[in-house]
Amino acid sequence: MQREKHLSPSILAADFMILGEQIRAVEEAGVDWIHYDVMDGTFVPALSFGMPVLKSVRAGTKLYLDVHLMIEKPERYIEEFASLGADGITLHYEACADPERAVRAVKACGKRAGIAIKPATKPEEVRDLLPMLDLVLPMTVEPGFGGQEVLPECLDKVSTLRKWIDEAGLSCDVEVDGGVRADNLAGIVARGANVIVAGSAVFRGNVRQNAEQLLGILRG
Ligand code: DX5
Ligand code: ZN
Repeated sequence: MQREKHLSPSILAADFMILGEQIRAVEEAGVDWIHYDVMDGTFVPALSFGMPVLKSVRAGTKLYLDVHLMIEKPERYIEEFASLGADGITLHYEACADPERAVRAVKACGKRAGIAIKPATKPEEVRDLLPMLDLVLPMTVEPGFGGQEVLPECLDKVSTLRKWIDEAGLSCDVEVDGGVRADNLAGIVARGANVIVAGSAVFRGNVRQNAEQLLGILRG
């Protein structure tokens, strides 16, 4: 089946002194999504950025904003991220008191809803949610930091989720986040991922060239 593919550069790895320029560079390369990692120092050890930066990014780009909330009780902030201009909001299954209700809350804001699972969480846990999801994200690294290597054991989850989605005739995207680079991207796409997050692989070095190279591989 032909499905849309998107590269979603994670600005966690960007140079914030020139964030606007770097977003422009990925736009010029033909990228259509931006991945926005929110970390709270509790669900994951690190802190990143939150509402004020999203507001500026929204004002500066028309690209699809793919917001990944690595925070405890993300339900508290869904409306606020939605009103600041997120296009899609992905919540961690492990962080929600009631994941189904949280997904409904995202949709009630008119946004696309995603559920992410950590490396230790089995895909079976989210299988029943797939019909109501726009995106599922089996993390390929322990969430919290950029620049890590893919955990190979997580890749089977990509294939499994894609198989369940296709067998049920659903339209849910399968996103991969963590450790994606030019040398492993084709294999990840072959497993059925259609949204690819890349932080260091885009923002280390020549941003536009990196994005063009990854897009070339992604589109085959
Ligand atoms: C990790 C974040 C990722 C991160 C990916 O917790 O969710 O989005 O920015 O970075 P790379 O591509 O460098 O692994
Ligand atoms: Zn992320």
